[in-house]
Amino acid sequence: MKKDGLLETRLEETRVFAPNDAFRSRARIKNLSEYRRMYEESLSNPESFWGKIAGELHWFKKWDTVLDETNAPFFQWFVNGKTNISYNCLDRHLDSATRNKAAIIWEGEPGERRVLTYWDLAREVRKFANSLKSLGVKKGDRVAIYLPMIPELAVSVLACARIGAIHSVIFAGFSAESIRDRVLDCSCSLVITADGGWRRGNVLPLKKIVDEAISDCDCVKNVVVVKRASGDPFPCRVKEGRDHWYHRLIEEASSDCDAEPMDSEETLFLLYTSGTTGKPKGIIHTTGGYMVYTYLTTKYVFDIRPEDVFWCTADIGWITGHSYIVYGPLANGATVLMYEGAPDTPDKGRFWELIEKYGVTLFYTAPTAIRAFMKWGDRWPEKYDLSSLRLLGTVGEPINPEAWMWYHTTIGKERCPIVDTWWQTETGGIMITPLPGCVPTKPGSATLPFFGIDAAVLDDEGKETTAGFLAIRKPWPGMLRGIYGDAERFKETYWSKWPGVYFPGDGARKDSDGYFWILGRVDDVVNVAGHRIGTAELESAFVEHPAVAESAVIGIPHDLKGQALVAFCSLREGAEGTEDLLAELNDLIAKKIGKFARPEKIIFSSELPKTRSGKIMRRLLRDIATGRALGNVTTLADASVMERLKAQYEE
Ligand code: WTA
Repeated sequence: MKKDGLLETRLEETRVFAPNDAFRSRARIKNLSEYRRMYEESLSNPESFWGKIAGELHWFKKWDTVLDETNAPFFQWFVNGKTNISYNCLDRHLDSATRNKAAIIWEGEPGERRVLTYWDLAREVRKFANSLKSLGVKKGDRVAIYLPMIPELAVSVLACARIGAIHSVIFAGFSAESIRDRVLDCSCSLVITADGGWRRGNVLPLKKIVDEAISDCDCVKNVVVVKRASGDPFPCRVKEGRDHWYHRLIEEASSDCDAEPMDSEETLFLLYTSGTTGKPKGIIHTTGGYMVYTYLTTKYVFDIRPEDVFWCTADIGWITGHSYIVYGPLANGATVLMYEGAPDTPDKGRFWELIEKYGVTLFYTAPTAIRAFMKWGDRWPEKYDLSSLRLLGTVGEPINPEAWMWYHTTIGKERCPIVDTWWQTETGGIMITPLPGCVPTKPGSATLPFFGIDAAVLDDEGKETTAGFLAIRKPWPGMLRGIYGDAERFKETYWSKWPGVYFPGDGARKDSDGYFWILGRVDDVVNVAGHRIGTAELESAFVEHPAVAESAVIGIPHDLKGQALVAFCSLREGAEGTEDLLAELNDLIAKKIGKFARPEKIIFSSELPKTRSGKIMRRLLRDIATGRALGNVTTLADASVMERLKAQYEE
């Protein structure tokens, strides 16, 4: 790969891989013309297209109109329809043979195994839904979920959905302060957590972190604690009156709990994600549209069948886990594999061992993981029988053609189609992707838009171009409906670049075959190992340290993580950039945001490069950090700052 990034390598990429014949012959969509016909229909007649799909699911009351655009960008889908996604993921399957098949096959990091059939899962969800009710949770209340990857996480999400409570899952790598911000932003009345969770042979003390997080959150009335890892030597403190053991609640709960008929546009969940300002955004997804969209994308993108074992390696704490571990696959009556821990515990073969052991057929992971596997070497996958695999997927960031080729040959044995799926927390489900039975793939391209997605590459003026900004010109059912408590920010962030067009914040290229090549973020959001982090969020954390006057955080290319963070901090008078300060700042970020957000490098300086109007010039900092020739410095208030910083960085 060329040193300075993906763009150049991709422009030269000319390899094309036709869908494999064996796969194609059984696929739902077997040729491009069929895809194109359906795609055209989905755009020209969304009412009938989406109406037909929605009709495959259960509705307590049918919708009046498929799409209402009167209040754009506050679009409404399946207007006045009443449904319940938990019902569609569970009850809908209980009258068929699906009742007795595995919904979730789970393996803990230490090696325990649990299998929940659709019947088991439905029963547990009903019981826990009743437990939530007994703790006073009502429709519309917000419930925070801070759990490791254990079946109770899926149960919690589905139990909230069943009674119309709004879940806000917080990835179990976030710090106490991040939890606190998220709990307060939407005033959660209940938090679901566990005493601990396993990660790389250690127990993360999740309950302890929650205790710290909510010590001054008056809104939280109850905490439910799943017993996963406590006991000697990991005791777990239980606060009388506020804290309740999950297993006790389940023991006492009735398994009779009807699903609440939800209006299509009632909120299903909030999921916080990073943006360009310091404050995380609570992305709102509603019931009907999200359900239909995740159902359909799972069905076609993974070409899922009843006998498949679908393993999406994401954490349910991120959107990928919401849509492709829980809602999409279960709405399709599929079997998912869920794994609690790290890919290199007890050794670097763990993922391949899981694939062999459970006969995984569909495997969906992230480029950052693929690059780590490549680095660990072929001897790990070679030890295991991967012949059960029939499709591979990737998501989270652009995949370098080299990593794509490795995935294709070493894991897919040149037999499995690869679906490189572009989408976001905001889009609810997959937006640009090959359909595996019919779309020829090119390493590094997410290829063509999914049904109903009017994707384009536009310039600043909104004119179509071959390299510019990715844009979505029509509403789609899975789209976000807003940012919790901030309608203005919603309009400003996504709908103000061009009139009536959704702006995802990514750069993209479109080639002569109409294929999309996503080039990464164009705003101050970085993608570190597939985790979206707003640089402003980190900068506000740094300046909370008394020694730091100002800070600028940038993302630079990184072989394994895709991007890594570099922080430039200018210090206050009298403060010194010592090793101790470095350690303190690293701890501060771990504490404020989470360990996964710690920067690769922190550079201390007496000042930062600024324009005369006082704006920090991040572009120049990027030049320094990537070793490029310094760009135009004439707008700088003091050009000598750059020379000093460059010298310091190289040192
Ligand atoms: C990036 C994850 C290139 C993109 C589902 C997007 C990708 C951000 C791809 C959303 C892909 C995701 N190719 N880039 N296949 N998939 N991205 O909200 O920059 O965590 O805007 O959602 O990840 O990240 P998020």
